[in-house]
Amino acid sequence: MPDPEVPVTDLVSPVVQSRSLVTEIPGPRSRELSARRAAAVPPGVGTTLPVWVERAAGGIVVDVDGNRLIDFGTGIAVTTVGNSAPRVVAAVREQVAAFTHTCFMVTPYESYLQVAEKLNALTPGSHEKRTALFNSGAEAVENAVKIARSYTGRPAVIAFDHAYHGRTNLTMALTAKNMPYKHRFGPFAGEVYRVPMAYPYRWPTGPENCAQEAFDTFVSLVHTQVGEANTAAVIIEPIQGEGGFVVPAPGFLALVSAWCAEHGIVLIADEIQSGFCRTGDWFACEHEGVVPDLITTAKGIAGGLPLSAVTGRAQIMDSVHVGGLGGTYGGNPVACAAALGAIETMQAEDLCGAARHIGSVLTGRLTALAEKYDVIGDVRGRGAMIAVELVEGNGSKTPDAGLTAAVSSACHRNGLITLTAGTFGNVLRFLPPLVISDDLLHEALSIIEDAFAAAV
Ligand SMILES: Cc1ncc(COP(=O)(O)O)c(C=O)c1O
Repeated sequence: MPDPEVPVTDLVSPVVQSRSLVTEIPGPRSRELSARRAAAVPPGVGTTLPVWVERAAGGIVVDVDGNRLIDFGTGIAVTTVGNSAPRVVAAVREQVAAFTHTCFMVTPYESYLQVAEKLNALTPGSHEKRTALFNSGAEAVENAVKIARSYTGRPAVIAFDHAYHGRTNLTMALTAKNMPYKHRFGPFAGEVYRVPMAYPYRWPTGPENCAQEAFDTFVSLVHTQVGEANTAAVIIEPIQGEGGFVVPAPGFLALVSAWCAEHGIVLIADEIQSGFCRTGDWFACEHEGVVPDLITTAKGIAGGLPLSAVTGRAQIMDSVHVGGLGGTYGGNPVACAAALGAIETMQAEDLCGAARHIGSVLTGRLTALAEKYDVIGDVRGRGAMIAVELVEGNGSKTPDAGLTAAVSSACHRNGLITLTAGTFGNVLRFLPPLVISDDLLHEALSIIEDAFAAAV
């Protein structure tokens, strides 16, 4: 942990917290690097916005041309505490100078234990828990499925429409969307079954019927096509990330949770994108009063370093034989130090409260924008995980991916990093760092308003 004698702010060079564009976006130096990239990196690794980064902190990313952009992407919901957050930097420096790696499975170290204890305490439910650490979100999901299968002795896993769980073979099978995640990469892992998501905006009989009807369909499909006794786990994002920030209809998660408990099926909440204060609580399933059996986390956990975790009921986690879980780098000490710094920041700075404040500002201005433009079909999300779904308008809910791309590009040109999402590519999602200033937040919203004015 950071040495209290060292003022953490001295460890991080300041990045001025204002937007400033000194070249067109992307600038000449960025364009040079993009040209070099083509000869060194395959195009399969895509790029949302080809401005090359020099440094970043708080709500600002500085590019190699000296432009300062507002960060509404946080590297896909990772730098929740801000880039190079002072406590993360201090903890990492101290750890990297002490030792970089031993492998927890060879000779363990305390920071792994401290992260596990934190996760056991912070995740929903007061039952006894255990935590195992890994590197990426996909790896955590893979391990959650391994653990659920080992515990239940059953093979099948149920996943939802619009789900995203990663790019490894099993997690591609769990992920719903073909392009770009699965196209030409099959065959995929077996025993994965898909059911409809309780997606209120697109539920055929209306949002008021969504929770119960989606649950009835889920029960019927699992019963008739899979069999409860063959089902190890149901995996669900309490708010879907890549799928377009779909918030399941209220009550749906609780129905699924109770049904899983009734049938001895492990409920896995994938909180890799929605966890760690992002939605205004430590974990998104808390809003629905749901206590999952296993919870997967990554992204925001370690302030930008690669770390992920599976946390869950002791009896489930302890069911795996000795040596069945792990990996060379899982719970790397530098990543664990970063996680302790990030979690301390979230607690000390009440970043759950900050997320709720950001959510009310975003929702307020975006809802007003939706009243002006009927192409904004839905404004949804929680806390600092808010999105707008764009449609053709005039009463039509036909997705408009072209308009979404145009609005996003206009934001980029004006120095705001935004991301798109959604099965139909028609969702603009906003993921600011929770330490962003009100001034930057409002400036970003003005850029979004201008982008709609220009594109619609
Ligand atoms: C909900 C969810 N699960 C899993 C993953 C995969 O995480 P990673 O990219 O770290 O493998 C992601 C990444 O976007 C995610 O949002």
